[in-house]
Amino acid sequence: MRGKTALITGSTGGIGKETARGLAALGARVILVGRDPERVRQAVDELRASGGQAEGVAADVTRRRDVAALAAQVAERCDRLDVLVNNVGASPPRRALTEDGVEVTFAAHVLAPFTLTRLLLPLLGGRVVNITGGIPGGPIEPDNLQAERRYLGWTFSQYNHTKTMLMAMSLRFAEKVAGTGVTVNVAYPGHGHTPMNRSMTAAGFPYLYRPVVPLLRVAAPRLFGDLSKPARSSIHLASSAEVEGVNGAYFSMKCRRVEWPASVLDRGNQDRVWALCESLMRETV
Ligand SMILES: NC(=O)c1ccc[n+]([C@@H]2O[C@H](COP(=O)([O-])OP(=O)(O)OC[C@H]3O[C@@H](n4cnc5c(N)ncnc54)[C@H](OP(=O)(O)O)[C@@H]3O)[C@@H](O)[C@H]2O)c1
Repeated sequence: MRGKTALITGSTGGIGKETARGLAALGARVILVGRDPERVRQAVDELRASGGQAEGVAADVTRRRDVAALAAQVAERCDRLDVLVNNVGASPPRRALTEDGVEVTFAAHVLAPFTLTRLLLPLLGGRVVNITGGIPGGPIEPDNLQAERRYLGWTFSQYNHTKTMLMAMSLRFAEKVAGTGVTVNVAYPGHGHTPMNRSMTAAGFPYLYRPVVPLLRVAAPRLFGDLSKPARSSIHLASSAEVEGVNGAYFSMKCRRVEWPASVLDRGNQDRVWALCESLMRETV
């Protein structure tokens, strides 16, 4: 990765910071993004102290003006961006809207990666890695894209729904950039004991899973405390020669290429998610 620049969103903590650490250790110049300028500075200092070439930008990627400002800052600093990892995740326990009126998980998981990738396309010469999560692959509900109808159900959660939509958007994006030298792929990280998980309560889970949440919370620090494991799939997709030129693929936590779920392959679903992203982005920038 020497001579290459990678931007990782949500990289002042959790899996994003481990991804940034891994890419910096491979020689990349990494640009870290988080909402809090002080946490950005601390993460940059930490990576620099271990010999990494790191810098930071403070931005909340669920806000349209921040995404536009982030893209503008990156364009000022770089002639070329080799890797973009859209890593930010959000999991509020109930439906909430951003200051722009967009449902929060849709904004974090689908609209932010879409808008940031579109705005950075003129600089991008390499790989876009979008991070899915939860239990993706269920149906995409056309009348519920921003959880207008339901946010949580027996097995349904808008978290999983938006991660499935991210995958549908990514696959369509991959088709659009095919042959341009840019690739768009999706990585599943696997479980990590991160700030997002630590702050989640049973109330944020589908009803069926709630009874096991307290047990999971007790076991999580021991079982999932090593964040280098869930960062493997994103580091692999961002840096490995094995996946050079691979476009429109979905990789498991074991860095293996796996089948896309049927709802993601459905072109009608891709059309709907793409159209919503385009219309929201048009209002944005
Ligand atoms: N942890 C898991 O078990 C797990 C499993 C599967 C998939 N995933 C996925 O992996 C990704 C990373 O998850 P994680 O658990 O590491 O998340 P996390 O702990 O919530 O990530 C923390 C990082 O994201 C930043 N961040 C949060 N919201 C942001 C926003 N709106 N704009 C900019 N930065 C923001 C935080 O910094 P500030 O607080 O300083 O802004 C911090 O750097 C997510 O996409 C998640 O869905 C996680």
